Amino acid sequence: MKNRIYAPTWESYELIDAGDGLKLERWGPVVTIRPEINAYFKPELSKKEWVNQAHAQFIEERGTFGNWKMLKPISNEWVIDFHGIKLIVAIRNTKHTGIFPEQSVNWQNINQSLNPGDHFLNLFGYSGASSVMGTIKGAKVVHVDSSKSALTWAKENQEINGANGCKLVLEDALLFMDREIKRKHQYHLIQMDPPAWGIGTKGKKWQLENHIDSLINQASKLLLENGKLIVSTYSPRTTPAILREIGVFSFPSRNVKVGILASKSTTGKVLEHGSLLIVE
Ligand SMILES: C[S@@+](CC[C@H](N)C(=O)[O-])C[C@H]1O[C@@H](n2cnc3c(N)ncnc32)[C@H](O)[C@@H]1O
Repeated sequence: MKNRIYAPTWESYELIDAGDGLKLERWGPVVTIRPEINAYFKPELSKKEWVNQAHAQFIEERGTFGNWKMLKPISNEWVIDFHGIKLIVAIRNTKHTGIFPEQSVNWQNINQSLNPGDHFLNLFGYSGASSVMGTIKGAKVVHVDSSKSALTWAKENQEINGANGCKLVLEDALLFMDREIKRKHQYHLIQMDPPAWGIGTKGKKWQLENHIDSLINQASKLLLENGKLIVSTYSPRTTPAILREIGVFSFPSRNVKVGILASKSTTGKVLEHGSLLIVE
């Protein structure tokens, strides 16, 4: 039996249905259709029902890049709420909207783990949802991403929440970790959500399978003795079994938990997003 860890549902986001390589999602008042590689099964609702509900559909052209086809008039940017935290949703030239909703499971964990004054390192931080959560909890947050536009988005999310004070770093995650180890900095909580394919600040292509063990191993040097590590991966090669092996090797005396990060649609379909490793 698979160890699935389900992302908790929240009022402003709903995975309505999934299937035929697509997912139907509601972000506050707006419903979208996006490609979903893990939706290899049949959807529950008909195509007509999907189109009736949807405001916009993403049409893939090149990987995650493409165009949003407007099915009903909407603005291309709006704000939704996660338990009192505001998050900007935007539809631009990629299928990503600024929020990975299944990360709600990690946001909950971050919220429960951090105390005021704790040091929190958010690697591959993207639009900064986790960083905002950490800052609001009173933690000292360092947010690292190799993309300037991701850092701008993270700054905007901080501003609309009045959650300033988080340090934003434009850097390759591994290079940043190497520097932090030399500086002897340590953290109570480290979260990383690396993409299957990444780009370093010098434009170098970066494949997760070649780096996942270094990322986890370097994290073991940066984590305080009782600190917590949360790693989510979206690459089919970094299975829970692989993450467990690396986790146990890097943290021999700690409790290592792994599972499959999953969401359930309102219609009952299960989407598996990737693997989750928690060291505590
Ligand atoms: C999957 S997204 C992270 C999602 C985010 N944690 C969330 O839940 O909203 C991946 C992020 O990693 C960044 N990235 C890609 N390669 C990187 C690298 N080598 N170092 C640092 N950040 C990188 C991308 O710019 C992107 O913002």
